[in-house]
Amino acid sequence: MDRFVVEGKKVLRGSVPASGAKNSVLPILAASIMAEGTSVIHNIPELQDVNTMSRILEYLGAKVRFKNGTVEVDSQNINRCDAPYEFVKTMRASIALLGPMIARFSRARFSLPGGCVIGPRPIDLHIRGLQKLGVDIRIEDGYVVADAGRGLKGNYIFLGGAFGSSVLATANVMCAATLAKGTTVIEFAACEPEITDLANFLVKMGAKIAGIGSPCLTINGVKKLKATEYRVIPDRIETGTFLLAGAITGGCVTVEKCQPLHLGAFLDKLSETGIEIITGRNFITVKGNKNWKPVDIVTLPYPGFPTDLQAQMMAFLTLADGVSVITEKVFPERFIHAGELNRFGASISLDGSKAIIKGVEKLLGARVMASDLRASAALVLAGLAAEGTTYISRIYHLFRGYQKFEEKLKSLGADIKREKDIV
Ligand code: EPZ
Repeated sequence: MDRFVVEGKKVLRGSVPASGAKNSVLPILAASIMAEGTSVIHNIPELQDVNTMSRILEYLGAKVRFKNGTVEVDSQNINRCDAPYEFVKTMRASIALLGPMIARFSRARFSLPGGCVIGPRPIDLHIRGLQKLGVDIRIEDGYVVADAGRGLKGNYIFLGGAFGSSVLATANVMCAATLAKGTTVIEFAACEPEITDLANFLVKMGAKIAGIGSPCLTINGVKKLKATEYRVIPDRIETGTFLLAGAITGGCVTVEKCQPLHLGAFLDKLSETGIEIITGRNFITVKGNKNWKPVDIVTLPYPGFPTDLQAQMMAFLTLADGVSVITEKVFPERFIHAGELNRFGASISLDGSKAIIKGVEKLLGARVMASDLRASAALVLAGLAAEGTTYISRIYHLFRGYQKFEEKLKSLGADIKREKDIV
C-alpha cells in the first residue's frame, strides 16, 4: 500500500481546474443502461469509483470505452440485472444501478450494501420508493430481490427520511419513474446539484421531468429512453477541498472550471472565518490570512452545508482563533477523522453528533491513517499546515474520489510525495 509524505508549512499559490463531479458521474453511468445504444458522457474524472462502476456495467454486458475524459457506454447488449456482493462491497454507490435495472428489465437482484466508516447506510427509502412504483421487493440472503411484474406504475411518493432527503434514493426512484406508466410525484426529493445533473441527463434521454432542482419532482413516464451525449458538472467537493488547501496554508488558490453557485453554504461559512473569497462565473479564488475566526457549522442536505466538506472544514478550524462547533445532521457518526486530527496536536472533542474544535496555535506533523475518502483529504490539509513531516497511510481511499490529487497540490507548491508504505 502507498502513503503520502507531506512537508508542511508551504504556502500554496496558483490555480487548478475542477474535475467532473464523481457524485454525478456515478448515477449518470448507472442511468445510461436504461437506453439501448451508446451514450457519450464528457468531463469524466479518472477515479477508482468510476473504474468500479464501469467494471460493473461490463459485468452486466455493456461495452465501456474511455478516451481523454470522455466515456462511451454501449448498453445495447446488457443481459444481466444482478449486482453481486463483490462489487457492491467495494462501492456503495453501485446501489444507483437498482432503479435503472428495474426500469429496463422489470427486475433486479442486488447485494445489500454494507455500512461504512461514516455510519450505517440503510436503503429503506430506496426500497419504499420503488415499492410505491409497484415493485415487489424482498430481502433474501443479503440481497434485494426486486420484481416489477407487469411494469412500473406512477405514484405519489414521499421520500423524506429521518435525516431528510436521500441523494441516491432520489436517483433510483427518479430513474425508475421515467419509464413507469403514468405520473410520479416525488416529494422531499434531494436537490443536490448532482441530482439536478442526473435529471438533466435523463431529460436529454427523452424523460419528462418537471421541478428539477426542487424538492418536488413530477415525472411523466415515457415508453423508451434513447442514448444521448452529455457533459457532467464540475465537482463541488473537490473544489471546496482545494480552496481549503489555499486557506489553511495562508496562500492564494484559484479553482477554475468550477461552479460557484453549487457552493453557497460552504463559501458563506468560509467567508465568515474572515478568509477573502473572489468568485467569477466559473472560478473561485481564496486569499488566505495568517489567522481566521472560528465558526459553527451544521451539515444539512443541499443547499445546506455539505457533509462531504465537513472533515476538510474541521481540519481548517483546528487552527482558528477560538472554538468552533460542527453538528453533523446527515451522518451523525461521521467524525472518524477527529481522532486522527488530534494526533497533529488539534484539540477536538466529540459529543454525539457534535464536534467541538478548540483552535490551537499550530499543528505538528504526525503519522496518521486515512479511513474514508473525505477524511483522507482532511488529513492531507492538516499535513499541509503542520510544522514538520506528516505520513498518511492507506491513501487508496483518496483515489476513489480525487483525480490527480497530489499532482494538483504539487502544482500549487505543496511538498507532497507518494511512496511505498513501510507496513
Ligand atoms: C450520497 O450518498 C453521496 N454519494 C455521499 O458522498 C454524500 O455524503 C451523501 O449523498 C449525502 O450528501 C454519492 O452520491 C455516490 P444519502 P447517499 O442517501 O445517497 C440516510 C462521498 O464522499 N438514509 O443522501 O448514500 C443516510 O443514512 C460520499 O462522495 C436513510 O435513512 O446518501 C444518511 O443519514 C460519501 N435511508 C442520509 O439519509 C435510505 O434509504 C443521507 O444519505 C437512504 C439514506
